[in-house]
Amino acid sequence: MTFDPMGTTALITGASSGFGVEFARRLAERGADLVLVARREDRLKALADELSVRYGTVCTVVPLDLTEAGAVARLVAILAEKKVVVGTLVNNAGFGNHGFLTTIDPERLDAEIALNVTALVALTRAFLPELLAQRKGALGNSALVNVASTAAFQPIPRMAVYGASKAFVLSFTEALWYEAKGSGLKVLALCPGPADTEFIEIADNADALFGKLESAEQVVATAMRALDRRNTPASVVSGTMNAVQSRLVGVAPRRVIIDIVGRGGAPKSRPTRTR
Ligand SMILES: NC(=O)c1ccc[n+]([C@@H]2O[C@H](COP(=O)([O-])OP(=O)(O)OC[C@H]3O[C@@H](n4cnc5c(N)ncnc54)[C@H](OP(=O)(O)O)[C@@H]3O)[C@@H](O)[C@H]2O)c1
Repeated sequence: MTFDPMGTTALITGASSGFGVEFARRLAERGADLVLVARREDRLKALADELSVRYGTVCTVVPLDLTEAGAVARLVAILAEKKVVVGTLVNNAGFGNHGFLTTIDPERLDAEIALNVTALVALTRAFLPELLAQRKGALGNSALVNVASTAAFQPIPRMAVYGASKAFVLSFTEALWYEAKGSGLKVLALCPGPADTEFIEIADNADALFGKLESAEQVVATAMRALDRRNTPASVVSGTMNAVQSRLVGVAPRRVIIDIVGRGGAPKSRPTRTR
């Protein structure tokens, strides 16, 4: 085990559900205190209580809508006031809209980009200096984990913005992995395939799924194993079949891949005009 966040503080976005809850449990188990961010405060408080009892974790609960202008600045100010120094950042909050672009509410598209891309970059920019500084104290105790997706590897018809947002997260994180080389900070893009969380329901996209869903436990275990490697890779795909498919996507002609993915998801008919 080379990732030891004991005695540091990990900030997790999207900690009210799915992967975020599991990241919180695994990082608390390793002795990290936590900053839990999402909109549903009741869920964050329940998780904080659970982890405080089980591991003695000190949790700072920050209910926040990360799509709102100034949300990241508010979070930075709250943590500065509480003198919380962030040693690990897990940019996990995200969601996807499903459907032909013309059928999706423009405000939902704005929120998708604001959360998956804009907030993720702002949080990374805000906390990266702290992550790098933290690392100077001890070896392998600090990490930046950005949750991308296997959607990052090819365009996703009917989830066009989502696929593009995750391609952004993957590219962005891999670049930072290089920039952080030699600093000791572990930088990782986690690329899960379809998994059993609230994500699918929110994306209203159950028909588009194929293959077996991974559990949040499996996905986060993949991330923890990657962090435990002495040379943490820039990205990791969770699940053997997902990893194989992602490799194949990399070598097959782009046009073929778009056709295959396009045929895979619902709705299959073109939308009628709504206005
Ligand atoms: N599950 C999958 O199939 C899958 C596959 C690949 C990648 N991913 C990615 O994995 C990440 C985690 O998703 P999940 O599967 O765990 O889904 P999830 O169960 O829906 O969790 C999403 C989390 O993001 C938070 N969130 C949503 N909107 C937010 C906002 N405006 N401000 C702050 N927090 C917000 C949610 O909390 P609140 O609603 O309380 O705010 C929730 O905690 C996402 O980035 C997703 O794109 C998921």
